[in-house]
Amino acid sequence: MANEKKTNKDGYSTTGHEWDGIEEWNNPLPRWWLWIFYACIAWGIWYVIAYPAWPMLSGATEGYKGWSTRANVAAEIAEAEAANAEINAKLAATELTEISADPELQGYASSAGAAVFRTWCAQCHGSGAAGAKGYPNLLDNDWLWGGTIEDIHTTISHGIRNEEDDDARYSEMPVFGEILEAEEIDQVVNYVMSLSGEPVDAEKAKAGETVFADNCAACHMEDGTGDIYQGAPNLADAIWLYGGDYDTLVETVTYSRYGVMPPWTERLSEAELRAVAAYVHQLGGGE
Ligand code: HEC
Ligand code: HEC
Repeated sequence: MANEKKTNKDGYSTTGHEWDGIEEWNNPLPRWWLWIFYACIAWGIWYVIAYPAWPMLSGATEGYKGWSTRANVAAEIAEAEAANAEINAKLAATELTEISADPELQGYASSAGAAVFRTWCAQCHGSGAAGAKGYPNLLDNDWLWGGTIEDIHTTISHGIRNEEDDDARYSEMPVFGEILEAEEIDQVVNYVMSLSGEPVDAEKAKAGETVFADNCAACHMEDGTGDIYQGAPNLADAIWLYGGDYDTLVETVTYSRYGVMPPWTERLSEAELRAVAAYVHQLGGGE
């Protein structure tokens, strides 16, 4: 509701608005406030010119300072790499078996290797390297393809049964569902279970021993302890890659398994490969 305007002692009048008897003075804004307000506008204009601001079809205006988060990250990475260049060169040039003899190099390799592992390996082998079904545990001293640092370095560099690297570790367990009768598979599975002391049907296991000698020993060895040159797991140690219960074993023997690991030479530098090999080697109480 409009009201009659009043004037105060500084000469400013009321706005003429009134609500339930309350009127407002049309006082000017405080000077200090106004200056801060103008300063903010000036700073805003400078900012828009200096830094990336206006969105364009792709990206944004660049700003005269040429600042970019991407370039900053690249510079920081380059700085970190330059700081590690010397020790990385040393790592790449040292015999694999000599790394552990040099405490500084071993310490660097383990921590750099742990970082590589978290980034590239943990998805499959688990963040603690304990593995999962089909993905080997790297903490124990049970190796499919060998546990010396050289073996581990080769496995990591070229991978396993992949199609990208001609030097990948390769072997293929036959699909025994096409070779053996169901009865023979039942028998050989009983025999395999007996190797790690699981309760089995003694008669079937006895028959299975022959099936094993004829069909499996060439890769898993006569005593079932496996062969690292063929990546054939030890079947006598109660450590299972795919599972040691009757049903899983029947599945493994009937359909076979084909574990694939990618090669890393293209993605990691030689120093990184050595670092992660040293890291895995010391995890597993490597051979
Ligand atoms: C896509 C999944 C995958 C990724 C990623 C992966 N691995 Fe593997 N890795 C496997 C599988 C599967 C096997 C077992 C293959 C087999 O059955 O022989 C394996 C086997 C291994 C072995 C051999 C273990 C043994 O007992 O001999 C080592 C060592 C290993 N991986 C290290 C690594 C490291 C180090 C990285 C990271 C640079 C890595 N892996 C990344 C899937 C993966
Ligand atoms: C040509 C070599 C070869 C022959 C022959 C062979 N295997 Fe295998 N076996 C392998 C390889 C290699 C693996 C590992 C596959 C993988 O990691 O993906 C394997 C894996 C297994 C596994 C899984 C072990 C685990 O830890 O989960 C079982 C069980 C097994 N074989 C049993 C047998 C039995 C029983 C026979 C005979 C009927 C047999 N194998 C014959 C090469 C062979």
